[in-house]
Amino acid sequence: MVKICCIGAGYVGGPTMAVIALKCPKIEVAVVDISVSRIAAWNGDQLPIYEPGLEDVVKQCRGRNLFFSTDIEKHVAEADIVFVSVNTPTKTQGLGAGKAADLTYWESAARMIANVSKSNKIVVEKSTVPVKTAEAIEKILTHNSREIKYQILSNPEFLAEGTAIQDLFNPDRVLIGGRETPEGQKAIQALKDVYAHWVPEDRIITTNLWSAELSKLAANAFLAQRISSVNAMSALCEATGADVTQVSHAIGKDTRIGPRFLNSSVGFGGSCFQKDILNLVYICECNGLTEVANYWKQVIKVNDYQKNRFVNRIVSSMFNTVSGKKIAILGFAFKKDTGDTRETPAIDVCKGLLGDKAKLSIYDPQVTEDQIQRDLSMKRFDWDHPIHLQPMSPPASKQVSVVWDAYQAAKDAHGVCILTEWDEFKTLDYQKIFDNMRKPAYIFDGRNILDVEKLREIGFIVYSIGKPLDPWHKDTLAVA
Ligand SMILES: NC(=O)c1ccc[n+]([C@@H]2O[C@H](COP(=O)([O-])OP(=O)(O)OC[C@H]3O[C@@H](n4cnc5c(N)ncnc54)[C@H](O)[C@@H]3O)[C@@H](O)[C@H]2O)c1
Repeated sequence: MVKICCIGAGYVGGPTMAVIALKCPKIEVAVVDISVSRIAAWNGDQLPIYEPGLEDVVKQCRGRNLFFSTDIEKHVAEADIVFVSVNTPTKTQGLGAGKAADLTYWESAARMIANVSKSNKIVVEKSTVPVKTAEAIEKILTHNSREIKYQILSNPEFLAEGTAIQDLFNPDRVLIGGRETPEGQKAIQALKDVYAHWVPEDRIITTNLWSAELSKLAANAFLAQRISSVNAMSALCEATGADVTQVSHAIGKDTRIGPRFLNSSVGFGGSCFQKDILNLVYICECNGLTEVANYWKQVIKVNDYQKNRFVNRIVSSMFNTVSGKKIAILGFAFKKDTGDTRETPAIDVCKGLLGDKAKLSIYDPQVTEDQIQRDLSMKRFDWDHPIHLQPMSPPASKQVSVVWDAYQAAKDAHGVCILTEWDEFKTLDYQKIFDNMRKPAYIFDGRNILDVEKLREIGFIVYSIGKPLDPWHKDTLAVA
C-alpha cells in the first residue's frame, strides 16, 4: 500500500489530503501538524476550517485511510510520498523583510524529513514557495541523506477557498514539476498515478521544477491583477457616471478577456494574493528586473488604494467624521463561504474607521469574536504563523463589538458596510434595518451585491463601488 504523509494540516493540507484519501481508498494518508489543537479539531466534530462539502469528505474516510496526527516523525518515516504544506509567510525582519518568503517552517520540515527517513522518498512542495526553493530543499536533504535518495517535486495547489472541494474534485489542471532525469520522471509518474485516480490525464500537466514553482506565483499575480484592473476602472466609473458592472459585463463578453474575476469590490484579500505578489516582486528585484517588479507592485498599490478610497468615502459622506458613530460591518471573511479572515479587506477598512474613532458592530456568519479581535490587533504578516506561535491575544477593543445577527449590528447605526458577499446579505429586510437606524441612514456596498435602486426608494443614501454616485456623495469632498 502506498503511504502518503502531509506535513501541515491547514487550509491546503487538510482538504487536499482528504480528497486524495476519498478518491484513492488503497492509499493511506496521514496529515500531521505541530499544532496539537488543530489536529484535535480535525479528529473532532468541529473541523478547524469551514469549507462547503469538506465535513462530508472527512467523515467518509477518517479512520479508514485518512488519519490526523501529531506524531509527525512516525508518519514521515513510514511514507513513500511526503507533501509539505506548511506556512510560507512574508518575512518581517532581515534580508527581504516585507517581501521575501520566510522559509523557516519549510526548512525545519525538510531537516526533520532528513533526520527521520529510513527509506527513499518523494518530497512534494505543496506550499507556495519562491522559484528555486526545490534546489535549497534538495541540498538540505542530500547533505543529510545517509544513503537515502530523495526526489523533489513541485505540485502547487490552485484550489480557491469557499469552493475548495469542488476545485479538488474537478481541477482545471494539476501541475507537477520535477527534475528532467530518469529518476525525476519516475517520481513525476508516481504522483501522476495518485491524481489519475480521478483527474483526466489531459488535465495533469508536467513541467520542469522551476516552471511549476513560478506558475503558482504567476497564476495568483494574474488573478489579483484582474481584480486591481477592474477596481481601478471602478474609480473612473464613479468619476464619469459609468457603471462598473455594465463595463465588466461588456468587456467580459470578449472571449479573449472572459467574464470571470471582473467583479469590482472593496479589494482582494486572502492569504495568498498579496503574499505571493510580494514574493514575486522580490524575486524580480533580486534578478535585477526593476521594471517587472514595479509592474506587479502596482497591483498591490491599487488594492490598498481601493480600501482607502472606501474608508474615505464613508468618512467624507458622514460630514467628514465618524467619531463616536456606530457603523455596522456586515461580513468580515475575505470572501463568502469561508471563515478565513487572512488579509481580508475588512481588516483595513475597520482599522481605517477605528482610526477615525468609529464604533463598530461586526457580524459575519462564520467568523468568531476572538478571531475578529485578534485580526484587528495583529501586526502585518503575523497571522501567517502556526497558531501556537502567534502573539497572544491583546485585550478586546472597546470600540468593537461582535454580534451574531445583521439586524442587531445595524440597530441604531449611522451606516452599514457590506464587506463580504455572503448570500444572506442579499435577502435581509432592508426596510426593517432602515427603520432601526439613525438618519440619514447610509449603506456602503463594498461587494456590489445589493439592489441600489430599491435601497434608495427605502430612503438610504447608497454608495456601491463603481456605480453612478448618489447626489449626496457627489456633493461630498472628492476622495483620495
Ligand atoms: N490557503 C490557500 O487558499 C492556499 C492555496 C494554495 C496554496 N497555499 C499555500 O499553501 C501553504 C499552506 O497554506 P495554508 O493556507 O494551508 O496555511 P495554514 O496556516 O492553514 O496551514 C499551515 C499548517 O502548517 C503547520 N506547520 C507549520 N510548520 C510546521 C512543521 N514544521 N511541522 C508540522 N506542521 C507545521 C501549521 O501549524 C499550520 O497548521 C502556504 O505556502 C500557502 O501560501 C494556500
